[in-house]
Amino acid sequence: MTLPVSDYPALWLRDNCSCADCVAPGTEQKLHGITDLAPDTRIARVEEDADAVVVVFAPDDHRSRFTHAWLAAHRLDGALADDRSEDAKQLWQAADLAGAIPTGSWSAFHQDPVERAAGLEALQRQGFLLLRGVPVTDRAVLTVAESFGFVRRTNYGEVFEVRVEDQPTNLAFSSLPITPHTDNPYRDPVPTIQLLHCLVNAADGGDSGLVDGFAAAALLRAADPAAFDLLARTPVTFRYADAATELSATRPLIGVDPVGRIREIRFNNRSMRPIALPADQIDAFYAAYRRFAEILYSAEAQLTFRLEPGDCVVFDNTRVLHARTGFRAGGPRHLQGCYADLDGAYSELAVLRRGSIETNGAAR
Ligand code: OGA
Ligand code: ZN
Ligand code: ZN
Repeated sequence: MTLPVSDYPALWLRDNCSCADCVAPGTEQKLHGITDLAPDTRIARVEEDADAVVVVFAPDDHRSRFTHAWLAAHRLDGALADDRSEDAKQLWQAADLAGAIPTGSWSAFHQDPVERAAGLEALQRQGFLLLRGVPVTDRAVLTVAESFGFVRRTNYGEVFEVRVEDQPTNLAFSSLPITPHTDNPYRDPVPTIQLLHCLVNAADGGDSGLVDGFAAAALLRAADPAAFDLLARTPVTFRYADAATELSATRPLIGVDPVGRIREIRFNNRSMRPIALPADQIDAFYAAYRRFAEILYSAEAQLTFRLEPGDCVVFDNTRVLHARTGFRAGGPRHLQGCYADLDGAYSELAVLRRGSIETNGAAR
C-alpha cells in the first residue's frame, strides 16, 4: 500500500507527528505550533512496513511514523465528532421512554464503575439519569455530583433549596407550576448539568416533567425550517436579579454548531427579557417562539413522573428541559439542587471506558 498523499496532506501529517521531538513524552501535548512548520512542507519520501508508514518530510528532513491503525482512525472524511451535538444523541419523545426511564440505584452507581459508566452513558445519550436510593440527608446531592464531576457553585450557593419561600425571588421557590425550562439561561457559561434531589414530596401535586429539547428543535426544523432558523439566529437576553445579584446573558433559544447541528437549548419564559429586534421582525419571532413552545409543552414531548424521597434526577441542562406541576402551598415539598458540568461527567465516562477502547496508535 502506498500512502495516498492526497488523502493525508503533508502539512497535516507533519503537524501530527508524535515523535518525542514533536510531542512531550508522557503527554499528548505538542511541542510545536503552526508557525514552527514550513509553509511549503512536503513529503520527500515514504517507507512502509507491516504496521506503519514512515514519512520523511522536506524541507526539514523530519522523520515521522504513522501506524495504519492511526491513519484509519483519522481518515479525512469530514466527519466531525462532537459528543455535545444532536448527532451523538438518542432523541426521544415521552412515549419512547415509557417504562424505560434510565434509572439506576445510587449505591451501584457510586460503587460499581460499570454501573457508573452505564449511567453516564444515559446522561450523554438520553440527556438524563434517575438515581434511586440517595440518602435523604442534607447536601447528599453534592456527593452525587462529586461522584462523577465537579459542583458548580453559584449565587444560590453550592446547594439550592427548592421549597416554598414567603417572598420568592425565583418562582421555583414557590408552589406555582413551572413550565418546561432550562435553568440559569442568564449565565454564560450556563451550568451544563443540573441535579435535583428529593428530600420530601408529600404535596398534593408537585410532579416532575422532562422534555428533550433537541428532539423538539428537530421537530420544529422539520415542520417549519424558517422558524428554526429564526430562533437559531436571534439573540435573546435572559436576566436574573435580586438584592445581591445581577446576571444576564444573550444567546439564541436554539444554539447550533458551525455546521448547523443542534447543540444547546436555552428556554425559560420566566427570565427572558424584551426581544431587541427591529419592530418589523417581532411578529415573526413571536410566531416561531410560540411554535417551539407548543412542541416543548405538548403532552407527547413531556415525560412525567414523580420524585420520591431519595430520588435524584441528573440532567443535561443544555438539552433536557424540566418542569413541575403546581402544588398546594402547605404541602410539604423539599428538593435540594446543585449544578455541575458535562465536561467533568464526560471525562469520567471516558476514563471508565479506557481499556475497552484502542488508544491513539501513533507510534514514536
Ligand atoms: C428548579 C426547578 C422544579 C421542581 O429548582 O430549577 O425547576 O420540581 N424545580 O421544583
Ligand atoms: Zn516528530
Ligand atoms: Zn428549574
